[in-house]
Amino acid sequence: EKGGFDHFMLKEIFEQPQTIFDSLRGRMDAEQQSITLSGVDKIAEKFLSANRIIIVACGTSWHAGLLAEYVIEELCRINVEVEYASEFRYRNPIITDQDVIIAISQSGETADTLVALENAKKQGATIFGLVNVVGSSIARMSDAGAYTHAGPEIGVASTKAFTAQLTVLYLIALKIAQLKGAIEATLFNRLLADLANVPAYVKEILDDQHAVIQAIAKKYSDARDFLYLGRGYNFPIALEGALKLKEVSYIHAEGYPAAEMKHGPIALVDEQLPVVFVATKDSYHEKIISNIQEIKARKGKVIAVVSHGDIVATELADDVMVVPQVHEIIAPVLSVIPLQLLSYYIGIYRGLDVDKPRNLAKSVTVE
Ligand code: F6R
Repeated sequence: EKGGFDHFMLKEIFEQPQTIFDSLRGRMDAEQQSITLSGVDKIAEKFLSANRIIIVACGTSWHAGLLAEYVIEELCRINVEVEYASEFRYRNPIITDQDVIIAISQSGETADTLVALENAKKQGATIFGLVNVVGSSIARMSDAGAYTHAGPEIGVASTKAFTAQLTVLYLIALKIAQLKGAIEATLFNRLLADLANVPAYVKEILDDQHAVIQAIAKKYSDARDFLYLGRGYNFPIALEGALKLKEVSYIHAEGYPAAEMKHGPIALVDEQLPVVFVATKDSYHEKIISNIQEIKARKGKVIAVVSHGDIVATELADDVMVVPQVHEIIAPVLSVIPLQLLSYYIGIYRGLDVDKPRNLAKSVTVE
């Protein structure tokens, strides 16, 4: 049932070239420069006239939502808010029939997300569900939606469902941007071409970096704390990397926007602290390089996710995990792969049950 892998988590990490392909299949035609998403078509008028899009989710799905905020605002020029379902549901938010809510949930059963949506729906908002489990409660209560097509996710720590969420969110953003006439054809085509290559690139990372990451995990498996830093499109990936590590290794880890480290977390840095930088080549690259230098100057240990061929970052960091270079908007779906593997192997080296971490349930159906 684990297909020759020791754990579901590892199996699901290695399934991602296929699951991402499945998320794209039948929806994207790079040659025709078109995206087919019947759920978006169904409420296209709502998306195009929306005051704002509110994304509601929890945990890893919330991290996918945070990236979607950056991407939708950039490509569609629609105002986006990202909300923790548990906060949104209790704080009497201002919602009108001009709001479209995108709910993101692997299980489709998360209690806080479900109730937040029910409340918003009563106030007239339109609900678009991005869900993995077919026929789940959130899928059923949504006005329109799209399935992620990741297949059943057994490992409690979400991996393939997250990359499927990112993949479909890219498609949703591109589709709305195209309908709205907000995106240049050249950028649209470039992003579609990069997306089409993501399954092959993920496979390349898994093939080329597996042993490297295993060795890095072994080296740092006794650490007491980790800091994860990223900027821009890679900031949500820093948060996700830290969450994954906490869940499967029980090591305290925090994710921060890299520039925020000066406002507090830098006090933690000493020779004991591994700092993971999500530092692929993008428009923030020079800035993140100087953040790496600041950590090195304080004797922190730097592990960096870098783009293939980035000599500067490679020389600065103590250890690197290499990913292919793609457009900065698409980069996060690749950057997260090494961080999933790193967490998995640190959990393994610490002798833990990575598939069923203590105190966690696959689906949080009580608030
Ligand atoms: C993290 C994880 C949780 C879930 C969260 C939301 O690895 O699995 O943080 O992402 O409980 O669950 P869904 O997506 O089912 O609503």
